[in-house]
Amino acid sequence: MLKISSLKKLVTDSMAVDLGTASTIIAVKGRGVVLDEPSLVAINELTEEIVAFGQEAADMTGREGRDINVLAPMRGGVVGDFERTKKMLAHFVKVAKTGGSNISIHAVMSMVSDVTHVEQRALLNAADDAGIGKVFMMEEGLAAAFGAGVLPTDKRASAIVDIGAGTTNVAVIAKGSIVHSTSERFGSNQINEVLATHLRRHRGLQVGEETTEHLKTSFVTAFLPDDISRATEVRGRDVQSGSPSAVEVTTGELYPIVEAIVRRIAETVKDTLTELRPEVAADIYDRGVILTGGGALLDGLDQYMRSHINLAVTISDDPRWATVNGLVKMFDDPELLERVARNELGALQNAEVPFEA
Ligand SMILES: Nc1ncnc2c1ncn2[C@@H]1O[C@H](COP(=O)(O)OP(=O)(O)OP(=O)(O)O)[C@@H](O)[C@H]1O
Ligand SMILES: [Mg+2]
Repeated sequence: MLKISSLKKLVTDSMAVDLGTASTIIAVKGRGVVLDEPSLVAINELTEEIVAFGQEAADMTGREGRDINVLAPMRGGVVGDFERTKKMLAHFVKVAKTGGSNISIHAVMSMVSDVTHVEQRALLNAADDAGIGKVFMMEEGLAAAFGAGVLPTDKRASAIVDIGAGTTNVAVIAKGSIVHSTSERFGSNQINEVLATHLRRHRGLQVGEETTEHLKTSFVTAFLPDDISRATEVRGRDVQSGSPSAVEVTTGELYPIVEAIVRRIAETVKDTLTELRPEVAADIYDRGVILTGGGALLDGLDQYMRSHINLAVTISDDPRWATVNGLVKMFDDPELLERVARNELGALQNAEVPFEA
């Protein structure tokens, strides 16, 4: 006969949650990544009710009906709109659950390293409302490093640069601990912003998010393109007349716009790497840096970074999933989890809910 404790194990999900500015990614121990959706909600303006989450909400972006508004409740890597983040997280956790309403969940979540107390509390409360019994929080940089294949036992240092939608996080790791880190609240989304601003101010065209995202992911490059006259048509709304319109842009025209943001990211990395102790610097000199996060997928970014910081630069496997892959690994190593979890946060949590592993 099964003992109570093993029965409990059968009905517990060990969930890794990367609640990002652009995407929420959830992995369950033993099942891998089970959810990867945009961190978006669609709101009915009249009733204030949420009518869609995630991909379904994203599909409404820019073309929503008069009363529907699509918004991102997470901003710059932290909870921007508390109520809606809570509801969104609860929805995603429900979808990601193995099945059956009485399955208990414990989770590991990541947070930006310079998170404030208020921001931390908001995340924990959101997790609590989502029905997560026990939450461990750990620094995003550490999770991304483990996900990118850095071993917690490795004595020598590794440098991981996570370029998300709203944050850029540089973490230097040795022996499973962060020895140095910086976190900036800007990221790949700024590229969309500068592209939209450029088109509006210099080409008189207002464009939507879908358009800038398409330009970023399939037209522009971080490294000076070989053919600067390659052109594409961009459609939107004429600033003067308000009517539907289009302009032609070239890779050469957009390159300096994008480069300004890419340079800022590279400068952040460079500055961080000048603050290391000599032994740590020597390790990084040998090993270079690893890029993670969706922002790392920008065409030519690794090449740009390599020439800017004069070190080897590699992109991890599945860069968008590096953080969640690192988080889910924690369930295989409870001692490590215990050590890296930000324990002082435990006090903020609902103490009545025990960890039933
Ligand atoms: N192929 C691509 N080329 C360029 N950028 C890309 C590509 N694919 C995704 N991105 C960008 O990566 C970003 C999303 O990355 P990611 O999912 O790591 O962010 P996040 O974890 O939600 O954000 P954060 O960590 O800042 O909270 C978006 O800005 C997206 O536009
Ligand atoms: Mg992220």
